[in-house]
Amino acid sequence: MAIEGWYANTVFILRWFHILFGIIWIGHLYFFNFVNIPFQGVLEKDLKPRVNPLLLPRALWWFRWGAMLTFLFGWTLLFVKYSGGDLWKDAATGMMSHRAMWILAGALFGSIMWFNVWFVIWPAQRQIIGWVKAAQAPPEMPALAKRAALFSKINTYLSAPMLFCMIAPNNYGSINAVTFIVVLAISMVIVAHLYKISTKVGTTI
Ligand code: HEM
Repeated sequence: MAIEGWYANTVFILRWFHILFGIIWIGHLYFFNFVNIPFQGVLEKDLKPRVNPLLLPRALWWFRWGAMLTFLFGWTLLFVKYSGGDLWKDAATGMMSHRAMWILAGALFGSIMWFNVWFVIWPAQRQIIGWVKAAQAPPEMPALAKRAALFSKINTYLSAPMLFCMIAPNNYGSINAVTFIVVLAISMVIVAHLYKISTKVGTTI
């Protein structure tokens, strides 16, 4: 097989795995934010220590390892696709191409999200679940729970523009400040609406 064939197939497989793990990660992020938050709001207090230590560690496992593999496949894909230079530079101007700008913005959003999962949300949740399992509720627990919830919310808001930036290089093309701001604004409106309806939807069959 010609070298171009190997290259195209490698990039394709990397992208496939990248998106597969991205779905696992972001699917769980949405489960936590649009299903679990409203659910915890109506779950009886005495049931929480029985339900949560069985449910949340499982969901958090898929969540954090999905994030890790998406991140690793994403940066590998970026390196493999863009390090050659052809996609990185605009042939006409010699400047950075618009698709490179899109993917750098997406990679930045995605990497901030990955950092929040591994260095804020997961350590906080691990600590909280440990306390719940041991039937302890130290005074620092509410602040830690708030911190985890805040960063989870930040990630949910970032996920919409991040996804736009991921699909833009191959399907959209041009980038400018107005487009970027419009994408951010539409994303915020959509996510805020999803939060709003999440307390009401699915409560009846
Ligand atoms: C964590 C950091 C991430 C990095 C560094 C990254 C990097 C990349 C790169 C380099 C590409 C190829 C772009 C191109 O073909 O020009 C890509 C594509 C893509 N990424 Fe990511 N990504 C990240 C996170 C995510 C996440 C969380 C998702 C959520 C599902 C995601 C979804 C996608 C999709 C759907 C594509 C396919 C675009 C297309 O073929 O049109 N990425 N990503």
